[in-house]
Amino acid sequence: MATSPDAVSTEESKFNLSTRAQYLLSTPAHPYQWNHIKATFNQYDAETNPTGELPLAIAENKLSNDLLLPRLKQAAASALTEECLSYTDGTGAPGLKAAITDFLSKFVFVNKSGNNAESSAAPYTIQPANLVVSGGCTALLYKLSVLMFEPGDSVLIPSPYYSAFGRDFANLGDVHVLPVVPADSPWGSPAALSAADLDRAHAQALAAGRPPRALLISNPHNPLGVIYSATQLRLLLEWTQRRGLHFIVDEIYALSVFTQAGADSDAGAEAGGESESESVRPTEFTSVVSMLGNALPEHVHVLWGLSKDFGGSGLRLGVLYSQNQRLLAAVGAIDAFQVSRAVQQMVAHVLADHAFCALFIRENAARVRRAYGVLAAGLAAVGVPVVGPPVAATFAFVDFRGFIARWDRFRRPGGNSMVGTGDDLVISEELELAFYNEVLCDLLKVLFTPSDPCGLQTADGTRVFGYYRICYTWVQPDGLRECCDRLLAESLRYGDCV
Ligand SMILES: Cc1ncc(COP(=O)(O)O)c(C=O)c1O
Repeated sequence: MATSPDAVSTEESKFNLSTRAQYLLSTPAHPYQWNHIKATFNQYDAETNPTGELPLAIAENKLSNDLLLPRLKQAAASALTEECLSYTDGTGAPGLKAAITDFLSKFVFVNKSGNNAESSAAPYTIQPANLVVSGGCTALLYKLSVLMFEPGDSVLIPSPYYSAFGRDFANLGDVHVLPVVPADSPWGSPAALSAADLDRAHAQALAAGRPPRALLISNPHNPLGVIYSATQLRLLLEWTQRRGLHFIVDEIYALSVFTQAGADSDAGAEAGGESESESVRPTEFTSVVSMLGNALPEHVHVLWGLSKDFGGSGLRLGVLYSQNQRLLAAVGAIDAFQVSRAVQQMVAHVLADHAFCALFIRENAARVRRAYGVLAAGLAAVGVPVVGPPVAATFAFVDFRGFIARWDRFRRPGGNSMVGTGDDLVISEELELAFYNEVLCDLLKVLFTPSDPCGLQTADGTRVFGYYRICYTWVQPDGLRECCDRLLAESLRYGDCV
C-alpha cells in the first residue's frame, strides 16, 4: 500500500540510500490509494455522517465480512497453538499447504465457475509440493519480478490492467510493464486479443530495448471484471509457448463470478436485465489448470489468494501454483515474505471446512451481484456507460468521458477544451486529473481509481483518459446509492449537451 506522496523528503543525506531507493522516492505512486485511505477516516454514514466520503478506489470486498469473521474467530480458538510461536517451512506450513491443495482442487481448478463446489466436473488433485504460500499475491509478484526477469526486461499485460502491476514489477525487479492492446476493440474485450496483437506488443517491446519475458493476465480481469474464454486462454498458452515466454495467470478473482446459472437474479432486474453483449461473452470462469487437465507446461504459473474471494486482504495470504520445480525452489529460497504462522493455522481451519466455503462463495457471489445491480442502475440513470459489462470481481470500469466533457463545457472556469464527440471523444490527461481532484474528490467526495496507472491506450500507443474503476464492494449498497445520487445531482447541473 502506498504511503502519502508528500510523507518523505527526497533530499540527499550523507547517509545515502541505494539507487533503488532513490528511484522509488523519485517516482511516487499515484495518490489515489492514499486519497482512498484518507477518505476512510471520514466515511459516509446515512445516519451519522451523511456528507461523508465514499472510498471506492481500492479493490476490497466488505460485503461478506459478517460471514468470514465469526468463522475465523471460531478457527482461532483451536488454531492458536504453541506451534504459532515458531518458524515453519518458508513455503507454507504443511497443514496449510494440505488445506490449500484440497481447496484449490475442489473449488478453483475445476471447469465450472461460481458454484464450483457443486459442479459435477471432476476436480484435478494437485500436490502441495507445487505450491508456495506467501504474504499475498503482491509478495509473489515481487518475487517473480526478480526471479524471472533481468533488470530492463518487460512483462506484457493486456490493457487496461490492475494499476499496481506496474509497481509490483518495477519496484524490486526493475521490470517494465508493457500493455497489449487489441487492434479492433481497444478494450472491454480480452476475447478480442489476437496473435497479431501479441506479436505487435512483442515487437514494440523489443524495439524499445525491453525484451519481453512473460505475458501476465488477470482472469477474471482487473479492472474490467470480464472473463477469458477457454479459446482465448488456449491462444495465449500457445503463443507464450511458441515465443518462449512465461505465462502468469492471476486467478485471484476466480470465485468472485457473480453472473452464473442459478445465481440470484435481483441485480439483473435492477440493472435492467442482461445486455446482449453479456449473453455472448463468457460468464463462466475457466481455470487454466482445469483447461490443461493439471498438466501444466513449465512456463505456466497460477496465482490465487484470500484477498478477493474471501474479502481477506488484511490476512495477507497468496499462493503460487506451478509445476516448474526450478521456479518453485527459487521462490521458496526467498522466504522473507512469510505469512504469520497464526494466520496460516487459522486459514487452514477455514479452508478445510468445505461446507462453510461453499456457502460463503455462493452467498458472497449473490451479494456482489446485487451490489453491482445497484451501481449499474445508478450509472444508467446518470448516463455513464460501464465497459464490459463485468460478470466477475468487485469493480466496474466506467466511461466518464461524456460526463467530464459536460463538466468542462458548462461548469469549469475557462473550460470547453474537449476534442471529438460520442465514441471519439478525447479527454486530456490534465482534464481527467482536474475532474478527479475538483469534482470527484473535493466536491462529490466519491473516490474512484483513475485509469492513468492502468496502462489504458490505443493500439498505436496513444494514451487514453476519462475512464475510472469503481470498487463497489467497498461500501454497502446504501453507500452506492448515495454515490449515484451525488453523481446524478452533479450531472443535472450541466444541462444535457454532448
Ligand atoms: C489482479 C490482482 N492481483 C493481485 C492483487 C494483490 O493481491 P494481494 O492482496 O494478495 O497482494 C490484486 C489486488 O487488488 C489484484 O487485483
